[in-house]
Amino acid sequence: MTTTRDLRRKAGEEPITMLTAYDAPTAAIVDEVGIDVILVGDSMGNAVMGYDSTVPVTMEDVASRTGSVVRATEDALVVADLPFLSFGVEQSESIHNAGRLLKEEGADAVKIESGPHTVALTEALSDVGIPVMAHIGLTPQHVNEIGGYHRQGTERDAAAETLEIAAAHEDAGAFAVVIEHVPANLAAAITDRLEIPTIGIGAGPDCDGQVLVSTDVFGLSDWSPPFAERFGDVRGEMRRAAESYREAVENGEFPGPEHASIEEDLEGFDDRE
Ligand code: KIV
Ligand code: NA
Repeated sequence: MTTTRDLRRKAGEEPITMLTAYDAPTAAIVDEVGIDVILVGDSMGNAVMGYDSTVPVTMEDVASRTGSVVRATEDALVVADLPFLSFGVEQSESIHNAGRLLKEEGADAVKIESGPHTVALTEALSDVGIPVMAHIGLTPQHVNEIGGYHRQGTERDAAAETLEIAAAHEDAGAFAVVIEHVPANLAAAITDRLEIPTIGIGAGPDCDGQVLVSTDVFGLSDWSPPFAERFGDVRGEMRRAAESYREAVENGEFPGPEHASIEEDLEGFDDRE
């Protein structure tokens, strides 16, 4: 079992690996190949639920899929994302929602898109024993406020503010921080400054670890951000399998004799003479 302590030990020594999963078979594969952290990301909204943002994703969505991932995972640390408006409105509701993902679904930690408004919450969650992974830089739940998925922290003031937010969450007790879509030199400076592990996505090579959305890595997504990389062609494989199945049924090759069985006792059961 990977723990938050293991990640801290690994940081700066070896790269930490993190990948999303939203279902049991994917989690089992990601776990078996030795990925350190599985994120049940609210990226499920875009990746597998057919939404065009993470905004519509609910607590029920994340809870159900967290349970599926947890049941299929043996070694990786499972982190569940708190979806839009499940936190940040009322503290006790936020704690209840985060706690539910640990207590009822078996997650090991939660991730929260961070800002000045999540420092006190991060401290409260850490205090009651819910490990928090912070998330700074581009925070996709803010897409409507930002007006797109633009790179963040590109100006000196914004960069300083991003570093400050990261440090405030470390002080509040966060065990790690995701840094999304910022200049590599800003991510490097944050990694240098913080003691807790930094895990980058579109943030260059100098973070303590890297995370990507699994459907992008597998080559299943129909669109991926420019900072992602396809390491497979699962979309092509699934297409070929679905097409072969259709053809086999249409031309009578499936099912074959090996897929069917004759029950001798039924010989003549429908004789009407
Ligand atoms: O939801 C998600 O997959 C994420 C990662 C991209 C960090 O938040
Ligand atoms: Na997310």
